[in-house]
Amino acid sequence: MYDKSTLKKSEKLFYVSLPEIRKFVRDFHQEMWKGLCGKKSSLKMIHTYLRKPTGSEKGRFLALDLGGTHFRVMSLELKGKRKTGASSVKTFVLGKKHITGKGKELFDFIAGCIKIFMKEYKLDTGAEYSVGFTFSFPVKKKGIASGVLLRWTKDFSASGVEGKDVVELLNASLERKGLSGTKITALANDTVSTLTARSYEDPDCDVGVILGTGTNACYPEKDREIVNIEWGNFNKQRLTHYDRKLDKCSGNPGEQLFEKMVSGMYLGEVVRRLAKDLLPGINFPKYFKSEYASAIESDTSKGLRKTGSLLKKIGIKSSDYADRKLLKKACVIVSTRASRLAAAAIASVITKMDPRLGRRHTVAIDGSVYEKHPRFSCRVKNTLKEIFGGKARHIKLVLTKSASAKGAAIIAAA
Ligand code: BGC
Repeated sequence: MYDKSTLKKSEKLFYVSLPEIRKFVRDFHQEMWKGLCGKKSSLKMIHTYLRKPTGSEKGRFLALDLGGTHFRVMSLELKGKRKTGASSVKTFVLGKKHITGKGKELFDFIAGCIKIFMKEYKLDTGAEYSVGFTFSFPVKKKGIASGVLLRWTKDFSASGVEGKDVVELLNASLERKGLSGTKITALANDTVSTLTARSYEDPDCDVGVILGTGTNACYPEKDREIVNIEWGNFNKQRLTHYDRKLDKCSGNPGEQLFEKMVSGMYLGEVVRRLAKDLLPGINFPKYFKSEYASAIESDTSKGLRKTGSLLKKIGIKSSDYADRKLLKKACVIVSTRASRLAAAAIASVITKMDPRLGRRHTVAIDGSVYEKHPRFSCRVKNTLKEIFGGKARHIKLVLTKSASAKGAAIIAAA
């Protein structure tokens, strides 16, 4: 069943035109400005009390990274002169009980992981350490080493954490585990750590972006303090009825509307909702992961055979070539919109700092969507060319992998 006119309508519905992008940038600037003045805005523009590093930070530091289902502990040596030395990393997987259970259990688990790491790498658990903590959720900072969780995102819901200082909660767990010398001395969002990690080696870097399970960005304001935009909550863009329904069924309706159109947590779900309309004969499973959409878009096998086997694996026993072609189109439509919106947001941040785009800007980007999706990064770059023409050459987008932990170590050092 191949309905050409429904496909055409969907393509049009999801397409973000250049005039729309220009309007997006104007609205984004207005929301940034309101957020900075403390007025009601979908952009929180959170103070971080942090500046970009100088590159001369030195020493060995511990860093923690919590922002999704994986928790990372890292020990890193900074050599000064913009160079880093040896590092060790260990990744732990969080269970559902940590993500959605009691907050105390989540923080005790994290403290336990730190102890395991220290033992494995023969670090003296009785000694004093300053630790940088990357915590990738909206936090209202009260100082460099303290911050109150405003609300969970990305389907986290551990109880007793919202409204509390997450550094106090973790320090208390560290004490319970007998690690009272291990103290969190800096707290940062993942965007800030990514910006910090890249700008330690590259002074032109002035935007940190995450395009992964969630999405967000940060940049230095005029007084040089880094501002965490929390752009996932931007809500002035045009929504389709698919976005409205997805939002309604989500765990945080009315919130993180931009994130729900751009990030890995939701892209698969947007594809599923669109594909259901395009392919009414197919019974899609409830959870259609963003990774499936990436794999389908990468499929160049004859007759889209690989897509066929993926569909089988997720319970769709029979599909013909026309179905698979249409499903691939749905993936392209959704991810094209996401990458154009991401480019619009990046353009907004850069022109906030440099309206005429007269300087060089390195944008440090981390996250599974940007890294792993077959066409995402290329589409973001092309959209920036569409927006800025030749001047887009001033913008360098750099994949800055696993920078969250590294950035936290540098922040602890600074
Ligand atoms: C959070 C941000 C975070 C982003 C990327 C969002 O859901 O609100 O604080 O930076 O995800 O991890």
